Amino acid sequence: MADTPWKLSYEGFDPTQEGLREALCTLGNGYFATRGAAEESEADDVHYPGTYLAGGYNRLETELAGRRIENEDLVNLPNWLALTFRPEGGDWLNLRRVEVLGYTQALDLRQGVLERTVRVRDREGRETSIASRRLVHMRRQNIAAIEMRLTPENWSGIAEIRSALDGRVINAGVERYRQLNGKHLAPLGTREPSEDAVLLLAETSQSRILVAEVARTRVYRDEGPAEARRATEHEEGYVAQRLSVAVGQGESLTVEKVVALCTSRDRGISEPTQAAMEEIGDTGRFSDLLASHALAWRTLWDRGDIVLDGHPHRQMVLRLHIFHLLQTVSPNTVDMDAGVPARGLHGEAYRGHIFWDELFILPYLNLHFPEISRELLLYRYRRLPAARRLARSAGRRGAMYPWQSGSSGREESQVLHLNPRSGRWTPDNTSLQRHVSLAIAHNIWRYWQTTGDRGIMAAHCAEMLVEIARFWASMATWDEAGGRYRILGVMGPDEFHDRYPWRDEPGLDDNAYTNVMASWTLRRAADALDDLAPGRRAELRLLLDVTDEELADWKRIAGGMRVPLLEGGIIAQFEGYDRLEELDWDAYRARYGDIQRLDRILEAEGDTINRYKASKQADVLMLFYLFSAQELTDLLATMGYDFDPATIPANIDYYMRRTSHGSTLSRVVHSWVLARSDRARSWELLTEALESDLLDIQGGTTAEGIHLGAMAGTVDLIQRGQTALEFTDHTLSISPCLPEAMQGVHLKFLYHGYWLHLDVGCDEVTVTAPDGWAGPRRIQVRDRIHEFQPGETLRFTCHLEDGWRPQQGAPERTGRAEGVAESVRRQPNDASPGQGR
Ligand code: BGC
Repeated sequence: MADTPWKLSYEGFDPTQEGLREALCTLGNGYFATRGAAEESEADDVHYPGTYLAGGYNRLETELAGRRIENEDLVNLPNWLALTFRPEGGDWLNLRRVEVLGYTQALDLRQGVLERTVRVRDREGRETSIASRRLVHMRRQNIAAIEMRLTPENWSGIAEIRSALDGRVINAGVERYRQLNGKHLAPLGTREPSEDAVLLLAETSQSRILVAEVARTRVYRDEGPAEARRATEHEEGYVAQRLSVAVGQGESLTVEKVVALCTSRDRGISEPTQAAMEEIGDTGRFSDLLASHALAWRTLWDRGDIVLDGHPHRQMVLRLHIFHLLQTVSPNTVDMDAGVPARGLHGEAYRGHIFWDELFILPYLNLHFPEISRELLLYRYRRLPAARRLARSAGRRGAMYPWQSGSSGREESQVLHLNPRSGRWTPDNTSLQRHVSLAIAHNIWRYWQTTGDRGIMAAHCAEMLVEIARFWASMATWDEAGGRYRILGVMGPDEFHDRYPWRDEPGLDDNAYTNVMASWTLRRAADALDDLAPGRRAELRLLLDVTDEELADWKRIAGGMRVPLLEGGIIAQFEGYDRLEELDWDAYRARYGDIQRLDRILEAEGDTINRYKASKQADVLMLFYLFSAQELTDLLATMGYDFDPATIPANIDYYMRRTSHGSTLSRVVHSWVLARSDRARSWELLTEALESDLLDIQGGTTAEGIHLGAMAGTVDLIQRGQTALEFTDHTLSISPCLPEAMQGVHLKFLYHGYWLHLDVGCDEVTVTAPDGWAGPRRIQVRDRIHEFQPGETLRFTCHLEDGWRPQQGAPERTGRAEGVAESVRRQPNDASPGQGR
């Protein structure tokens, strides 16, 4: 189907694609989400109608490979979609048992509505068209609704409609977890609270979250209620209403199912059953709900849209990414104490756990929805005691956040990993990725820089920074021989390497990314304390027992941290990297085609990826992603390294050739770091990253949940990467360098509480502050700083032929100041070092 910038559309029913479509057509509101499964479907080899609550976890034990293991999962809640029909005496709708005469499906991103039209012919030759629309309400977080319009095309008689709540569901959405116990829900009862409604109550078996769902089903004919005979079926964990309605040929019946889902995690309620009844009692027709829902989406798009000129398809995908991000975390998430799961609320991969992916997600939220970023930081703050315990259990001080986090903040990483290629369960050491704490520190700092939120810094974030810094100080060991501090036995972001081939115990030494980030964090923690008001600083130092000696230690460790190097100014991924073998990439590509998961390929061959210079994803290159060339050069200088930014392209090239992109995050980072030095390749990687979930380039993983880090990362890549939008030292700088294929980008963003509009075209950049402006008063475009006053518009013109070189005079101004024109030129391919900004 032709792309429109606001619709993801599919034509035809394709069972092999259904899982993927379900994930991509998920509807959610940051409180809960439901996969885009067909209303009539049940979990089988084609469909998987999952519903997940933000923060709705439960633990279960399983006996596996002779061990007792425990896993915490985001629970698949009772299926509220269940709505189907049959002509009296016929079969309930099942697209695999009828002739499908027509099928379209579309996700309307602007309004947050999933639409489907189906025309079917059953075995008796009866043709019926079914058009459904669905929403998960963006403002009324507990409400969802389906409207289904049935039209018998060549028959008349009784149409039977079945509308159910199905709590018999289990977690079975990911094939490789199916050996694990997946029964998280215990049924507590069903009821029929009114003639047109049914109610189901269930509880998660260990975390004891009560879940109440109420479904009200009504049928309309020509806008008036249609007379229906009703019967209710109760089974354990299941309740359904059957409605029998007479219908004539060519006549349409409209079925409306409105559902309220409440849980004992809700705020402002007495208990969920009563809350769900009250919620449902407060709803009108589908069209009313749609109007208020669409309005809520309108306000979100007004804040968060990013407009791309001339690319209807890319525009749609970019919006799809923003859409799914805002369905996973939204203003409804505030106060829910839920983090942001790496795979959204869209499927069961990684069990709904929270990793370091916030690092790729917060930059977008900071600039459009800082209240959500704040909530995600608070999710971490509330788990600071657990992180302290984790550090202590590892013999360290401070706070060690878990690699995978769920309800309580304890380490949720699995201990065994199934390689689907070999069928073997192997030890999973990924929890050695202690760098997750560094990502949290970085997120705190970037949030602080863009929002200037002193309140959260004083109340929560400074404490987290101190405890994270303290942890890293306790991780550092002094190496007398090398005269430097070292960090031993960890894993970097590249998950292919979890140990040395020559060592028994897992972990690597001096992962460069970790060491540099640890040094940065130690300094930021001290800065954060310095920035606090004296009273609060004294309080916090007293409460956390931060002595002058400790601060001096931090400084010494930060300045003396080791960074391993290879020849030619290449930063080594870790100590000993040079001893690894080169992999014959061409041979593996020729043999296997898709080599993204080289780790699994090699394990299945009886070999190990640990022997080779081969990375799953960006590791060293993360440094160029998170820091500008200048920031990194300065940072390394404080560590005693004379880093030459001219070596950045060589570093990128070195690791680029040794990376399989087995994580969807990898292309985002690579595209970013190439944005200046190789715009064509950067654009290629960006387009691949944009398509990675849409086309399921990992072959089956998207059906198990979207990759939210990559989705948000691509949005940020356009928002900050391609525009080089940076916030430093009270100066906001912009240095656009759009790829040739990108004609223009338009967005607005929030900086310290004020909105700025940014329009970047091929030959013009416009910055506007329509509603006042707190500062910074200076805006840097490329290498030139301009004063910027509230209410002003700054317009810079550029000429493609030879770069953004400011000419004499000031930029054109409108607003209060007098307009003076300035030309700023852009060159086709910037020669500055390979830097994302
Ligand atoms: C990546 C991690 C990421 C996780 C969750 C893994 O495949 O290697 O970096 O945090 O997926 O998205």
